[in-house]
Amino acid sequence: MIRYTDDIAEVDEGMLHGFFVGWPQPPSAGQHLAVLRGSFRSVVAIDGTAARVVGFVNMISDGVLTASIPWLEVLPGHQGKGIGTELMRRVLEGTESFYSVDLLCDAPLQPYYARFGMASVPGATLRHPAALRGRAVRGDGRPTG
Ligand SMILES: CC(C)(COP(=O)(O)OP(=O)(O)OC[C@H]1O[C@@H](n2cnc3c(N)ncnc32)[C@H](O)[C@@H]1OP(=O)(O)O)[C@@H](O)C(=O)NCCC(=O)NCCS
Repeated sequence: MIRYTDDIAEVDEGMLHGFFVGWPQPPSAGQHLAVLRGSFRSVVAIDGTAARVVGFVNMISDGVLTASIPWLEVLPGHQGKGIGTELMRRVLEGTESFYSVDLLCDAPLQPYYARFGMASVPGATLRHPAALRGRAVRGDGRPTG
């Protein structure tokens, strides 16, 4: 039985494993949890029987006009069951008042996001893989606690 929540206080590190499939250097569970807690909005799908998060999405935003969705992932064993769609529906709820909601993805996924009304546009990014090593710190370099 899958349930959804945006109350990340319900989530602990032990519920976050198996994500970032294929990443050479995945974030730690501590970093993952800090990202979910530090975001403007995060929604998780919880498998109640396993007490485990099986999907998540997070949004960062100025809270006024712009937002972006850095990460959306559903665990491999739970894909293709509409969980990603429900996470996107929930995270986008109420964002009609924003001018933009941006997301970077590989080209094959562009039709998936078109289902939510998202247009395909060119983009750019700057990445620092070394940031994924080490413990969870905030963007200002202070530990998350
Ligand atoms: C993309 C992802 C979040 C979708 O979640 P999900 O719960 O499996 O998706 P849903 O069940 O809501 O929808 C399934 C649809 O997505 C499509 N889809 C899933 N992954 C896809 C991919 N990599 N490329 C193209 N389409 C994809 C499926 O073909 C399916 O289409 P259908 O409805 O026509 O059969 C999930 O596959 C995932 O976590 N993938 C790995 C991480 C990732 O790529 N995240 C997105 C980063 S931008």
